[in-house]
Amino acid sequence: MTNPIRDNATALLQVQGLARRYRNDSGTETAVFEHVDCSVARGEFVAIVGDSGVGKSTLLNCLAGLDEWQQGRVLHEGLDLSALDETGRALWRRSHVGFVFQAFHVLHHLDVWHNVALPLMLLQRLDAQGRQRVEQLLQAVGLQGLGQRLPWQLSGGQLQRVAIARALVHSPALLLADEPTGNLDPGTAAQVMELLLHQTRAHQAALVLVTHSMEAARRADRVLRLTAQGMRPA
Ligand SMILES: Nc1ncnc2c1ncn2[C@@H]1O[C@H](COP(=O)(O)OP(=O)(O)OP(=O)(O)O)[C@@H](O)[C@H]1O
Ligand SMILES: [Mg+2]
Repeated sequence: MTNPIRDNATALLQVQGLARRYRNDSGTETAVFEHVDCSVARGEFVAIVGDSGVGKSTLLNCLAGLDEWQQGRVLHEGLDLSALDETGRALWRRSHVGFVFQAFHVLHHLDVWHNVALPLMLLQRLDAQGRQRVEQLLQAVGLQGLGQRLPWQLSGGQLQRVAIARALVHSPALLLADEPTGNLDPGTAAQVMELLLHQTRAHQAALVLVTHSMEAARRADRVLRLTAQGMRPA
């Protein structure tokens, strides 16, 4: 599918020659992936597919500056993430990135409402409008009325929706989602995909979605396949 936005906009995200390697106990390096190149425009939805273990979650972590890489560059609006120290990356991530982790990573001592509100709290934007936004998102992911529950009182699919609402609440420019519909029934999965797409379009955000679901990938402007040798159109 062609994407008009991509043709006349500068990239929000650029990945150039990225390589992630691990060094084992005997000092030998093994590459997870190498030569990964891609760029994603504002408002664009890119799906990444690939075999289990090929490095999709690792790549998303690199895109968010949550993991290290051994070669190559990750640029956000021209800003090279390697140029920032850990604190700088954390501050940048706080305002620019929404991340739906494969393992959710909700905070277990906070109730659902405060888990979703957390990005706004950190940005000091939890005013009346911010609180309304939290309510809107709880409603949008079908968790209205469950705001006071603690994470252990939720099902896997409900936890996933907390993670999705939290990633969207501060309207980030870049939304990274790792199998965001993996634990959901088909109906809820479709609703969540609609929400991710709607939010991406409404805020001209870029959505990079890792998925094994062809149903989800079908909605993307482009589908890329990650292999150990790099990224190519699927
Ligand atoms: N500390 C480590 N040392 C060596 N290899 C590691 C380490 N951490 C992760 N790996 C390897 O990196 C590879 C990529 O893992 P990753 O979780 O990114 O895969 P994935 O594509 O997201 O898989 P899935 O589809 O199952 O979620 C795996 O083969 C994993 O074994
Ligand atoms: Mg993964």
